[in-house]
Amino acid sequence: MILVTGATGKVGSEAVRLLRQREIPVRALVRNPEKAAALAQAAAELAEGDLEAPGTLDEAMKGVTTVVLVSPGVPAQEINVIDSAVRAGAGHVVKITSNASADSPIARRRWQTEIEAALAASGLDHTLVRSNAYMQNTLVLAPAIAKTSSFGSSTGAGRLGMIDARDVAAVAAVIAASPAPHVTKTYWLIGPELLSYYDVAAVLSTVLGRPVTYRELSSEEDQEAMIRAGLPGPVAAMNAQVFSMIAEGDAAWLTEDVPSLLGRPARSFGQFATDFAAAFC
Ligand SMILES: NC(=O)c1ccc[n+]([C@@H]2O[C@H](COP(=O)([O-])OP(=O)(O)OC[C@H]3O[C@@H](n4cnc5c(N)ncnc54)[C@H](OP(=O)(O)O)[C@@H]3O)[C@@H](O)[C@H]2O)c1
Repeated sequence: MILVTGATGKVGSEAVRLLRQREIPVRALVRNPEKAAALAQAAAELAEGDLEAPGTLDEAMKGVTTVVLVSPGVPAQEINVIDSAVRAGAGHVVKITSNASADSPIARRRWQTEIEAALAASGLDHTLVRSNAYMQNTLVLAPAIAKTSSFGSSTGAGRLGMIDARDVAAVAAVIAASPAPHVTKTYWLIGPELLSYYDVAAVLSTVLGRPVTYRELSSEEDQEAMIRAGLPGPVAAMNAQVFSMIAEGDAAWLTEDVPSLLGRPARSFGQFATDFAAAFC
């Protein structure tokens, strides 16, 4: 039995779907059963639980051999899952993480390092699945693009190796289905190309059949825009930090891990934009 946390989220929901497509037994951890219709439709077992409540995790962990650990990445919460997996004698944890390091200026990347350290210390077999930025992040810009055919960001002309969250899920599913060759490995998942937001605008223009323009914002302007769009101040501040780093080239790297793990190329931004075109219209 494979337990998938964050099962109503971008990566978790697709990982459940793909594992069930292969008829692998999956238990989906959800905190709000009202959001679980698609998971039930995929014939996944549902376990109601909260990452803050170890008792609910122990219940969900019964009989579990492998965990796909994905969530917003709050250390205490994910460490609760790791501790529960140890108590249950689970064999392997596939940890979805970011470009994390202990000395990163970005707090959420340091938090991921804390979780990764707890996983390493737990004695559980595990695999780390790292990415830079999900293509799905651009959906935050979709309402503005739909309305004004333009969007702004403080990433400047920095190029970025984005990955479709569905490919992150596909990799997690491949590893979870057969973890032995992936023990203690770290994979770096990137789409097939490096794109600046100027390139993103060009791809969207082609896919949507109308000109979409990108304008560079200062870090302060971007932070204010994110707060106006409803992001909490500290999250907007962290995002703005990440965007400044992207502008300086921090995310301009590619790897071959997706094709080598999936036996097919990673989805391009063009494919993503085509699949999600309705959101930008
Ligand atoms: N976005 C990026 O660009 C990016 C890049 C690299 C790495 N990552 C990593 O990807 C991970 C996030 O994955 P994602 O985008 O798939 O997440 P997501 O779409 O934001 O979904 C988060 C999931 O966690 C669940 N969750 C949140 N708090 C919970 C709690 N207390 N108890 C139980 N479940 C809870 C949510 O449930 P509800 O539906 O009930 O809220 C949801 O299913 C993070 O570790 C992040 O570092 C993201």
